[in-house]
Amino acid sequence: MSKLNITPVSQSKINTVDFNDLPFGNVFSDHMFSCDFKDGKWQNPTISEYAPLTLDPSARVFHYGQAVFEGMKAFKDENDDIYLFRPEDNFERINKSAHRLAMPEFPKDFFFEGLEQLLLLEKEWIKKGDGNSLYIRPFVIATQGALSASPADEYKFMIICSPARSYYAGEVRVIFAEEYSRSASGGVGFAKAAGNYAAQFYPTSLAHKEGYQQVIWTDAKSHEYLEEAGTMNIFFRINNTLITAPISDRILDGITRKSVIQLAKDNKIDVEVRRVSVTEIKDAAKNGSLKEIFGSGTAAVINPILGFKHSDFKHELPVMEDSYAKFFKKTLNEIQYNKTEDKHNWRHKVSK
Ligand code: COI
Repeated sequence: MSKLNITPVSQSKINTVDFNDLPFGNVFSDHMFSCDFKDGKWQNPTISEYAPLTLDPSARVFHYGQAVFEGMKAFKDENDDIYLFRPEDNFERINKSAHRLAMPEFPKDFFFEGLEQLLLLEKEWIKKGDGNSLYIRPFVIATQGALSASPADEYKFMIICSPARSYYAGEVRVIFAEEYSRSASGGVGFAKAAGNYAAQFYPTSLAHKEGYQQVIWTDAKSHEYLEEAGTMNIFFRINNTLITAPISDRILDGITRKSVIQLAKDNKIDVEVRRVSVTEIKDAAKNGSLKEIFGSGTAAVINPILGFKHSDFKHELPVMEDSYAKFFKKTLNEIQYNKTEDKHNWRHKVSK
């Protein structure tokens, strides 16, 4: 692959940004990385000013949704060193997603070189302190203009960055899906395919009308097994046992999810990775053994769920001082901000 071409901006726009008021994903840093797939190879890797793209209106991404993405975060420690959290997993997952959508895989050395050079240019955009991070969005789109419903021959791989605090601005209550489905066996639910998210917007907007912020998707066949929240994987605490659904071709293999499972094991918290039914959770809610529900994801980190609804059944979760949600959030953050030992080598230092 050709050499990375970097054109820094002459004037940063960082002084126009209020870092205390950052609705998720609305502000973007100065630069972006892009690389084109053409004539069977990735070429023209470039870091340039964050700017609109010019694309052919017949580009397949617009018509057939050939698009995949990732979500990552960069953190800064007290010494101004920059860290990524398990970035190899994001790299592997974007290629897994791309493969499923018949898109070319992106080379590892260029993923890391593009990403690290971009972060070094954007280091002022990564603020120190709890809750601060730079959200990183790598994505691939089919750019070839042609309307036949078949995979494109041309693609663009890009990375854009957005300073972030929390994903959910307020309280999160959920509805367990009874009618709509996010994914089905044999489909693309495990992939970070753009269309997986669009498909949730309408049912989620119905949930909003009832005062709920998210849908917990259930299996498409019976709507009896709780799978994931679309923006997050989902954990249930019954008494002191943590339960989460096993990953499958319907569920995203969340990096925060697998970190939580590992941290639970490290801290002798009973964790069961198994199917979890709506009936089991409703029974546990009724008999008082359901202590917590929380979601895990890169953007959301760990987000407590305050209540749920299924059919006519509504339940508010107890408020717990020593919640697992708080424990996992704190433990993950301490690793991410380089405040503690990293025994699983999850931190990746971005070299200066
Ligand atoms: C992430 O957590 O990074 C995601 O990709 C979820 C997205 C809806 C913000």
